[in-house]
Amino acid sequence: AIRQRLLVVANRLPVSATRKGEASWQLEMSVGGLVSALLGITDFDTKWIGWAGVNVPDEIGQKSLTEALAEKRCIPVFLDEDLVNLYYNGYCNNILWPLFHYLGLPQEDRLATTRSFQSQFDAYKKANQMFADVVNEHYTERDVIWCHDYHLMFLPKCLKEHNNKMKVGWFLHTPFPSSEIHRTLPSRSELLKAVLVADLVGFHTYDYARHFVSACTRILGLEGTPDGVEDQGRLTRVAAFPIGIDPGRFIRAIQLPQIKNHIMELKERFAGRKVMLGVDRLDMIKGIPQKILAFEKFLEENPDWHDKVVLLQIAVPTRTDVPDSLIAFFPSLLLFLTDQKLTCQVHEIVGRINGRFGSLTTVPIHHLDRSLDFHGLCALYAITDVALITSLRDGMNLVSYEFVACQASKKGVLILSEFAGAAQSLGAGAILVNPWNITEVASSIAYALNMPAEEREKRHHNNFMHVTTHTSQEWAETFVSELNDTIVEAQLRI
Ligand code: UDP
Ligand code: G6P
Repeated sequence: AIRQRLLVVANRLPVSATRKGEASWQLEMSVGGLVSALLGITDFDTKWIGWAGVNVPDEIGQKSLTEALAEKRCIPVFLDEDLVNLYYNGYCNNILWPLFHYLGLPQEDRLATTRSFQSQFDAYKKANQMFADVVNEHYTERDVIWCHDYHLMFLPKCLKEHNNKMKVGWFLHTPFPSSEIHRTLPSRSELLKAVLVADLVGFHTYDYARHFVSACTRILGLEGTPDGVEDQGRLTRVAAFPIGIDPGRFIRAIQLPQIKNHIMELKERFAGRKVMLGVDRLDMIKGIPQKILAFEKFLEENPDWHDKVVLLQIAVPTRTDVPDSLIAFFPSLLLFLTDQKLTCQVHEIVGRINGRFGSLTTVPIHHLDRSLDFHGLCALYAITDVALITSLRDGMNLVSYEFVACQASKKGVLILSEFAGAAQSLGAGAILVNPWNITEVASSIAYALNMPAEEREKRHHNNFMHVTTHTSQEWAETFVSELNDTIVEAQLRI
């Protein structure tokens, strides 16, 4: 059978580039749930279109990077520095990201954002058009185009304006908030209308899909149907497609001899102590300070556990838009950046707790501000007794899935925020918590650490069944086949 051609368009390519010379590039895997999930899609003839995370102003650079990326089936969209600043840092990450995650900005940041709103929104539309231009260059007739995430809400409209015959789907990897929140966005209607141009619109959960449909009915005055949103006889299909991971990749990895060795080493290092683990991008939405405060409360209330438990927190730096070189000279700059503020805040709490509960030879929290490679991450997942995920809001949260995939022998416990999309799929096996309630989280930690083997095994079994049967491959197949069907149905209606 001929595999269907799929053009995947996302702001972030699966590899990010760093320049090593005039025409030489180092490519590294990008971090984030979107990339991890999309890497699990193998049964299509896929090409990727996106930004390589680097500013390339010159022709030699653009040409050589295009060639280097072609080997990875990736096609770059080149965005200059000003555009990245207004579109990516500004509109995407300062406006849409906090809004979609129900995060309030401090009053003064909000006002500043309000003033620069129009220029950022213009840049957003311009950037989306640039992605569309690259798609148009590479499009051939049988292709299906799959647009991803909040960065590209204008893309369906840009594409169909150019060629109405394209099959276009759009999928959101974040929550879609209540229409009461979406209403506060000045460009609320334009964004919704641009997305509705797609043939199929997908979300992680039924709730997010429902919020989107109510935003369309309440803000645009359109008609919501069980199948989606209708505008003068034209239907846009709206549905939930919960994402998954490629579990085999993790299950195979932890059986490799070198990883088994690494697992042994880690087990020796933490012998006599239970291991708790957090893995997050260092983002406000992940609730890292809340998690650490809850762990502190647990230590306060359970002196017996002081030297018997350790929390490993991996906090991957993300969206850091000020060059390190500048920060070295002006450390006070750190205080003006939300993510940097978060780093300082987290360091302060970790320092306090380690000072309070540590000894000369051990500390209760190991906090790392960096990413781990895939194998290092798998080994950590495998030796963990309790994973602790406290997102204040999270589209799905794939770290929870990855942990479960690596726990076949340990059968550890997952403590999971009820505000992560994953709470709706792993709710039967995980201990669900409200991350704002640190008393509840602290007692869940105690409960998890003391859980009898029988209950642990049962909970793990539920989670493991889910993670191994709801894979990213299946997710992509369902979405694309629904997209094909939607178009056939629309043609029948005419
Ligand atoms: N991740 C990684 N290296 C690290 C830490 C995390 O590659 O050092 C990956 C992790 O395996 C997961 C992704 O980053 O696949 C995070 O996805 P998730 O859905 O949990 O959250 P997101 O970052 O998309 O908000
Ligand atoms: C989330 C978003 C992705 C994004 C990732 C990493 O998972 O849904 O679209 O790629 O975070 O963020 P970054 O801005 O570095 O791409």
